[in-house]
Amino acid sequence: MTSSVPDGGDQGRLLVVGAGTMGAQIAQQAALHGVDVSLVDVDGEHLKRAMAGNRQWLDRRVEKGKLGRDEAEDAASRVTPTTDLAGAASESAWAIEAVVELPSVKREIFAELDAHLPARAGIATNSSNIVVSRLADATARPELCCNMHFFHPVLVMDLCEVVRGPETSDDTCARAVAWSKRMGRTPIVVEKEIDGFIVNRILGAASREAFSLLQGGVASAEDIDIAVRKGLNWPMGPFQLADFSGLDTVLTIRRDRMERDHAPGDVATVAILERMVGAGRLGRKSGRGFYDYAVDPPAPLPPPD
Ligand SMILES: NC(=O)c1ccc[n+]([C@@H]2O[C@H](COP(=O)([O-])OP(=O)(O)OC[C@H]3O[C@@H](n4cnc5c(N)ncnc54)[C@H](O)[C@@H]3O)[C@@H](O)[C@H]2O)c1
Repeated sequence: MTSSVPDGGDQGRLLVVGAGTMGAQIAQQAALHGVDVSLVDVDGEHLKRAMAGNRQWLDRRVEKGKLGRDEAEDAASRVTPTTDLAGAASESAWAIEAVVELPSVKREIFAELDAHLPARAGIATNSSNIVVSRLADATARPELCCNMHFFHPVLVMDLCEVVRGPETSDDTCARAVAWSKRMGRTPIVVEKEIDGFIVNRILGAASREAFSLLQGGVASAEDIDIAVRKGLNWPMGPFQLADFSGLDTVLTIRRDRMERDHAPGDVATVAILERMVGAGRLGRKSGRGFYDYAVDPPAPLPPPD
C-alpha cells in the first residue's frame, strides 16, 4: 500500500552531507533512481570508504542477477564525492544532512547550507532524535527545513518518515514527500514533532513491554522472541533486534528516555541492559548479548544476575 500523501514535485541535484553509515547509502539509493548526487564529508577517507562500500553493494547485486551491469555503472557514476560543501550546495536543489548526532555540528551545517544553497532549496535532517526545530533557526529559511528519517540499511529499508517542524511549510513537506518517492522510498508524514517519530515509538513500546516481561520472570528472552516472531509475524524478536542494534546503543537511548519519563518499562530495560553491557555483552558486535553468536544458530544466553 502506498502513502496517500500528495506530491510536491521537484527536480535537480541532491546534496547529501555526511558519508557515514546513513549518508553513503542515502546517496546511492537516490542515484539508483536516476538522481545526480553530491556526497560531502569533512573526511576524505570516509568518502573513499563510502564509495567503495557502495561499489561493493552494487557489484553484489549484479552478481546475484538483481541489477544489470549498465544500471550499476549508471548508479555508481551519479554519485560525486567531494569535501567542498559550498561548491556542491550551490548547484543542488535539495539537501539531506546525515552527519554525526551532535546538534552543534548539525547547526553549523544547516547555517553553511543556508549560505550556499539556491534560495528555494529545502534542507532535511536524517536525525533519529534531533527534531528540525532545534536546527532550523540556524538558517534564514526555517519554512524550508524538515526531518527526512531514513532507516538503516537505507538500500534495503523502504520507509522515510517526513517530520514537519512547527515552521515547516506545506510546500516543503510536499517536496520532501516527492523527494522520498523520487528516491524510491515510501514516505509517511509525521504532522507534529514528537520523540521517536512513529516507528521508534512503536518499537520502543513493544521493546519496553518485552523487557518488563523478562524482568518479571514471565518468560525467557528466547521465548518472548519466538512469541513475537510467530505470533506477530515480525522478522526478529525484540531481544534479537536489541542484539543486532548493539546493547550499548540501546542502553544510551533507553537511559535518556527513562531520565525524562520514568516509565516502569524503561527502568526494567535499563536495569537489564546495564548488567549486560557491564559484563561486556554488547550483542552481535561483541559476539555475545541475549544470544551467543559463536555458535550457529546463535544460542540463548540468560542475562547475568
Ligand atoms: N545509524 C543508524 O542506524 C541511523 C538510522 C537512522 C538515522 N540515523 C541518523 O543519521 C545521522 C548519521 O548517522 P550515521 O550512523 O550515518 O553516523 P556516522 O558516524 O556513520 O557518519 C557521520 C559522518 O558525518 C561526517 N561528518 C562529521 N562532521 C561533519 C561535517 N562538519 N561536515 C561533513 N561531514 C561531517 C563524519 O565524517 C562521518 O562520515 C545521525 O543524525 C543519526 O541520528 C542513523
